[in-house]
Amino acid sequence: MAFANQQATVYNDTVVRQFAIMTVVWGVVGMLVGVIIAAQLAWPELNLGIPWLTYGRLRPLHTNAVIFAFGGSALFATVYYVVQRTCQVRLFSDKLASFTFWGWQLVIVAAAVSLPLGFTQGKEYAELEWPIDILITLVWVAYAVVFFGTVGTRKVKHIYVANWFFGAFILAVAILHLVNSAAIPAGPMKSYSAYAGVQDAMIQWWYGHNAVGFFLTAAFLGMMYYFIPKQAGRPVYSYRLSIVHFWALIFTYMWAGPHHLHYTALPDWTQSVGMVFSLILLAPSWGGMINGIMTLSGAWHKLRDDPILRFLIVSLSFYGMSTFEGPMMSIKTVNALSHYTDWTVGHVHSGALGWVGLVTMGSMYYLIPKLFGQKQMYSVKAIEVHFWTATIGIVIYIAAMWIAGVMQGLMWRAINADGTLTYTFVESVKATYPFYVLRLLGGLLYLSGMLIMLWNTLKTATAGRAVDITIPAAVAHA
Ligand code: HEM
Ligand code: HEM
Repeated sequence: MAFANQQATVYNDTVVRQFAIMTVVWGVVGMLVGVIIAAQLAWPELNLGIPWLTYGRLRPLHTNAVIFAFGGSALFATVYYVVQRTCQVRLFSDKLASFTFWGWQLVIVAAAVSLPLGFTQGKEYAELEWPIDILITLVWVAYAVVFFGTVGTRKVKHIYVANWFFGAFILAVAILHLVNSAAIPAGPMKSYSAYAGVQDAMIQWWYGHNAVGFFLTAAFLGMMYYFIPKQAGRPVYSYRLSIVHFWALIFTYMWAGPHHLHYTALPDWTQSVGMVFSLILLAPSWGGMINGIMTLSGAWHKLRDDPILRFLIVSLSFYGMSTFEGPMMSIKTVNALSHYTDWTVGHVHSGALGWVGLVTMGSMYYLIPKLFGQKQMYSVKAIEVHFWTATIGIVIYIAAMWIAGVMQGLMWRAINADGTLTYTFVESVKATYPFYVLRLLGGLLYLSGMLIMLWNTLKTATAGRAVDITIPAAVAHA
C-alpha cells in the first residue's frame, strides 16, 4: 500500500484553490466598480469632486478588474485544474505556479492603485504602465512554462481539446501583449507608444479584438469543453466538430480587428477585410455553441434541477447571441449606426455578463466544493437564486443598452429638410437618462448574485478543508 502511494499522483490544487477564491473576490470588486461607474453615468456628481473617483479613472479600473482580475484568475484556476486532470500528471512546477499566483495578484493591486492615480498608456485594455507590463510578461512566461511543461510531461497520449484552446490563448495573449505594449519609457510611470497615427490604431485594435477573441472567448471555450461534459455526465457532442471549431476560430479571429476602426483613416480595403472575416466568424462561433449545447443530448432533463448546468448552458446561449450580434455590427452600414452608441456597450455586456460571467460562475460552482473536500456547495438553493438574479440582471442591462444605443444612433443622424440636425447632442443625452438608471438596476442585480456567491463560497470553504486530490498510480499511468 505504501508503495502504491509513492507512485500515486497528487495534483497541485493549492494554486487552483487560491485562484478560485480570488476569482470570486475580484468578481465582487470589479462588478462593484462597474455599478459605481454606471451610477456616475446617471448622476455624474457621484465622483464627489475627488480626482481618483472620476469616471475616466474608474472606467479602466472596472475593465481591468473584470477582465484580468476576475476573468484572469478564473482562467488560471481552471487551466491548472483541467490540464492536470486531462494529462493525469501534477503541474510541471509548483514554484512557478505559485509565482504566477502572487505575481498576478501583484499586477492586479498595481492596477488598482495606478489607474485611480491617473497613470495610463491610454490604450484600451492595455492601460497599465510599462513597469507593470514587464511584470505581466514575467508572469505570463511562467504560466506558459507551467502549462506547456505539464502538457509535455503528460501520462496520456491524447491532448484533450480544452488544452488546445488554453494553449492558443496563452500563446496568442503573449504575442498580443508584447507587440501592443511596445513603448519607450519616459519616466518610472510614463511611456510613449512605439507606434504612431493609424498604425498605432491598427495595432491597438488588432490587440483589442484578439484580447476578446483569445482572452474572453477561446480560453473560456476551453473551460466550456471541460466543465459542460463533466457536469452533464456526457461526452462532448462531436469531438470532430470541436477540432474544426478550434482551428477555424483561431484562424479567423486574427483578421477581424479592423471592424473597430470603420470609417476612420484606416485604408478602406482593410476595413472591408475586417468586416468579411467578422462575418465568417459567425460560423465557427456557432459551431462551438451548438457543440456545447448538444452535449446535453439525452440529458436535457438535468437542466430542470441542476442550477450549475443551467449557468453553463445559458452562458452558451448568450455566447451565441453576442457572436451573432458582433458580425452584424461589423457590417459597415450597421456600424455607421451602432458605433459610439450604447449599443456597443450592450453587445460587450451580453458577451461579458452572459458568456464570460455565467460560464465562470458555473465552472467555479463545480470546482469549489471539490477543492474543499465537499460534495456540493454549502447551499444549492443559493446557486439557484444567484442564477436568476444574474440572468434577470443581464436582460435588464442589455435591453436598456440596446434601446438606448439604437435611439442615440437614430437621433444623431436625423436631419431636417433644410439639412440641419433635428436634435442637439444634449437632447440625446437627456433621452438616455432613464436607460442609464435601468442599466444600474441590472448591474445591481448582477452584483448581488455575485455577493451571494461570495457568501456561499466562504461557507463551503469553512465547512470543508483544503484537499489536494490524489489519484492512485494505476489510474495515473493508465
Ligand atoms: C455588475 C456588473 C457590471 C456593470 C454594472 C458594468 C458597467 C459598466 C459600465 C457603466 C461601463 C462603461 C460604459 C460606457 O463607457 O458607456 C462598462 C464598460 C465595460 N465593461 Fe462592464 N459592467 C459590469 C460587469 C462587467 C463584466 C463582468 C465584464 C467582463 C467580463 C465587463 C466588461 C466591460 C468592458 C469590456 C467594458 C468596456 C466597453 C467598451 O469600451 O465598449 N463588465 N461596464
Ligand atoms: C463573432 C464574434 C464577434 C464579432 C464579429 C464581434 C464584433 C464586434 C464589433 C463590430 C464591435 C463594435 C466595434 C465598434 O463599433 O467600435 C464589437 C465591440 C466589442 N465586442 Fe464584439 N464581437 C464578437 C463577439 C464578442 C464577444 C463574445 C465578446 C465578449 C466576450 C465581445 C466583446 C466586445 C467588446 C469588449 C467590444 C468593445 C470594444 C471597445 O470599443 O472597447 N465581442 N464587437
